[in-house]
Amino acid sequence: MFFRKKNKLSEIDMENLPKHIGVIMDGNGRWAKKRGLPRSAGHQAGADTLKKIVTECNNIGIKYITVYAFSTENWKRPKEEVDFLMNLLLSYLRDSERTLAKENVVIRAIGGREELTEEIQEQIKKTEEFTKNNTGIVMNIALNYGSREELVRAARILAERSKSGEINPEDITEDMISAELYTGGQPDPDLIIRTSYELRLSNFMMWQSAYSELYFTKTLWPDFSVNDLHNAIIEYQSRNRRYGGV
Ligand code: FPP
Repeated sequence: MFFRKKNKLSEIDMENLPKHIGVIMDGNGRWAKKRGLPRSAGHQAGADTLKKIVTECNNIGIKYITVYAFSTENWKRPKEEVDFLMNLLLSYLRDSERTLAKENVVIRAIGGREELTEEIQEQIKKTEEFTKNNTGIVMNIALNYGSREELVRAARILAERSKSGEINPEDITEDMISAELYTGGQPDPDLIIRTSYELRLSNFMMWQSAYSELYFTKTLWPDFSVNDLHNAIIEYQSRNRRYGGV
């Protein structure tokens, strides 16, 4: 007798999909350690998982995914690890011309660009240009991203516009702040997934996540499967979103 893992896809209500999913891809280091491998092997495996998950989100019909690839705090890691992550990102972006771009994915980077090397900045521009007319899922890669930095940046833009007399400070609205974030023009994430069971947001999309459903799983990011994604969406669909109402 054969026992097949139940396919959860059929349990997903396609009319009630999250439009935007945020993902904090945590646990690469622990995944590697458990296997006696260097941390870099965990990141490499994490990049492979990311490809699979974006492909599945696109296939299901999710419109936006934002993935936390490198935070403004991650520069504190040993230089060797930072260098590895930057090189991994570079090859991920390069490879995406043959992979995700072919699947109609729009790739964008969000976060501060100036601190990145010229080579990465150039590659980001190239990848964004190469995929900008695609019509599938929009993938925001959060790179040198921090929510506080993003809010400071938005505050500065609005302050400049106010200084020049274009707007009055008292006319500043929530929508105007949203519009100046890196994700300006996109819907807020409906669902934020964090792997490895760290129960915090770690400076990820703090403004945008005001009403997001949070989903924490013990699974380490490299092990996060398409089935785990389906489970997260099913759990999201079982929640009762009230947005402060009753
Ligand atoms: C957290 O795991 C993960 C990161 C800081 C990097 C995320 C990067 C990837 C998933 C791969 C590359 C992504 C792209 C876009 C190429 P951790 O290192 O903090 O794990 P730990 O908490 O177990 O040590």
